[in-house]
Amino acid sequence: MLRGAPLVFVLITCVCAQGVDNAPPELDAPPGRLFRLDPVEIGFERVLELEPGKMFTVQTVSMKPPVFEILNFLSDSECDRIRHIALEEGLDNSTVAEDPQTRFTATQGLDETQQVTQDKDDQILRMFEEFDWSQDGLLDAREVRDILPPERNAFMSLRDIHELFADLGIDRNSDGFLDLDEYKVTSEADIRDWMQKKMNSDKTRVTRESKQVWLSQNDAQDVVLRSLRERVIALTRLPRTLIKGSELLQVVKYSVGGHYHAHYDSEDINSDMPCHHSTIDYDEQNDDLFLRKHRLCRYITILYYLNDVDDGGKTAFPLADNETINDDELNENSDTIYDLSHHCKDAKLIVEPVKGKAVMWYNHRLDETGWLGELDMFALHGGCDVHSGTKWIANNWINVDNVREKQEQYQKKLESEVDLEFYDENEMRIEVENEYVKNVNDDVTKSAILNAENADVTRSKLKTEEPRNVHANDEL
Ligand code: OGA
Ligand code: FE2
Repeated sequence: MLRGAPLVFVLITCVCAQGVDNAPPELDAPPGRLFRLDPVEIGFERVLELEPGKMFTVQTVSMKPPVFEILNFLSDSECDRIRHIALEEGLDNSTVAEDPQTRFTATQGLDETQQVTQDKDDQILRMFEEFDWSQDGLLDAREVRDILPPERNAFMSLRDIHELFADLGIDRNSDGFLDLDEYKVTSEADIRDWMQKKMNSDKTRVTRESKQVWLSQNDAQDVVLRSLRERVIALTRLPRTLIKGSELLQVVKYSVGGHYHAHYDSEDINSDMPCHHSTIDYDEQNDDLFLRKHRLCRYITILYYLNDVDDGGKTAFPLADNETINDDELNENSDTIYDLSHHCKDAKLIVEPVKGKAVMWYNHRLDETGWLGELDMFALHGGCDVHSGTKWIANNWINVDNVREKQEQYQKKLESEVDLEFYDENEMRIEVENEYVKNVNDDVTKSAILNAENADVTRSKLKTEEPRNVHANDEL
């Protein structure tokens, strides 16, 4: 873990506080409230028995949001096994969900009836005024970036927007802004074209560059995946059904140049959209978060590193333990904060990828009733570029609906389903251990991984998509 200079002294003063003896008693949350591990202070370590007879050291590395590192959360052979299963399933290109709301809407955006009944120029003027947040009669690079066509996975900096102005010659008087006349003649198709070319020639202009696959951890699945889930239940202290009803395990592979620019794993609770995970009539055929009518509700992220990366591939939290989050400052510095290809080092918290390590953080605060509250804006994070080698991670997202009754209803439904029947925990453990011994002795697994890693497999399905990249303007 590395930290920015202003925090170094905090680290030094806090290291002395570590040790199991200082740990406050971990009380389980009363019914109806969500358990949350107290971060106590940076450098704080608590030793937890997450499996019978097996101790794990959970170290606090950030207070805002609470972020914890756990070394050797997975054994080497468990990491190998998960990568092996992922390769067997086949990985697809990762992407981010489209946002249907942003459109570079000039003349193309008007529908037929409007064109007949209203004056076209008038409409364009009204749109222009709507996009011109600063109300200065000009669209600056930031205002233009906000209305770019929703090219899937595009990550455009303010510098890119100026380049776009120049390449397309749309800023005719070269003043760095689009006035109404310049805006009127700008073609959305040309912009799309330009963005696609940019993304193809410069991978850092892609929000997320990786491959992924979703793996079920249900009882019928691999014993390593199931025992991992048992550990997650013990670590999070959340009800078994809540964990079982959460998203599948997402395994991600980054090659050289792979990254995921800074983003939030979860979304604003003050939204008309229902949570995706607890929507009972879930329609897998019709996904992209149900064509963006649903949102992600991810209380916790637990990220596992499944290999050692030769160089790069750190996980960065640009705003961790920032004193405040100031919208203007974020807007001003958006290119630096979100762009982890170029500004990984500037992040306030940087976690080193180490095989077997888990990083856990809370994406939401709790509200006054102890249930899922506001998205924690300090939880912005992402994966920095891999410079050499490959990087494998897996994500366990723990989903909670901010509407308590909906979460309860969802869990009740799960409990009534046969495929989620409950194991006696001890029986399950014995079974896990027996199968596990069989797996680790299985040399075939290792050679299969080596063979499969050389093949570029692309099949299998997506479960959910990521929220689109969030720029400071939109949601901070
Ligand atoms: C993610 C993510 C960080 C990393 O997959 O959502 O934030 O280090 N990954 O890969
Ligand atoms: Fe993430």
